[in-house]
Amino acid sequence: MRIERVEQTDTVMLGAELFDEPPTPARAEHFLRQPGHHLLFAWDDQHPHDRPIGFVSGVEILHPDKDPELYLNELGVADAAQRQGVGTALVRALADLARAHGCVAMWEVSDADNQAATATYRRSGADEGSPTNVFTWSW
Ligand SMILES: CC(C)(COP(=O)(O)OP(=O)(O)OC[C@H]1O[C@@H](n2cnc3c(N)ncnc32)[C@H](O)[C@@H]1OP(=O)(O)O)[C@@H](O)C(=O)NCCC(=O)NCCS
Repeated sequence: MRIERVEQTDTVMLGAELFDEPPTPARAEHFLRQPGHHLLFAWDDQHPHDRPIGFVSGVEILHPDKDPELYLNELGVADAAQRQGVGTALVRALADLARAHGCVAMWEVSDADNQAATATYRRSGADEGSPTNVFTWSW
């Protein structure tokens, strides 16, 4: 398995089926052009189908009084490639990238009942925080 940072809009579109919603080239281009926005794809070199088998995305969070941190935004692995270590490898690769970019921590919020995500974050070295409320403003 190979994990690579995505740099091209066309490459993002190859992973369209991994995302919650189909990405558009315009949104992909906008994402890739933003400083501190990162998207990694996992590729299966043994069974290449020209499609990535997993992705993770993250955003560097800045604040005037703090060192930068990386927020792990989304993580997904194709059904056929799950439970083979791909998710863990993607999270570890994003943590490596975060360190290389000067981030002092990486964090993520996930549903407490998402057992797969919880196990993946634990396995990739995360400490669990205390129970947290998430507040959303919708419009
Ligand atoms: C979460 C997800 C990315 C894990 O990917 P993966 O490649 O299967 O993960 P790994 O193979 O690296 O497994 C890591 C751990 O999770 C466990 N795990 C994986 N799928 C699981 C499942 N469905 N139920 C329970 N545990 C699971 C593995 O057994 C392993 O645990 P271990 O260290 O105790 O052996 C994948 O299940 C997925 O894409 N889910 C849908 C999207 C999602 O929920 N994303 C996260 C929230 S944004």
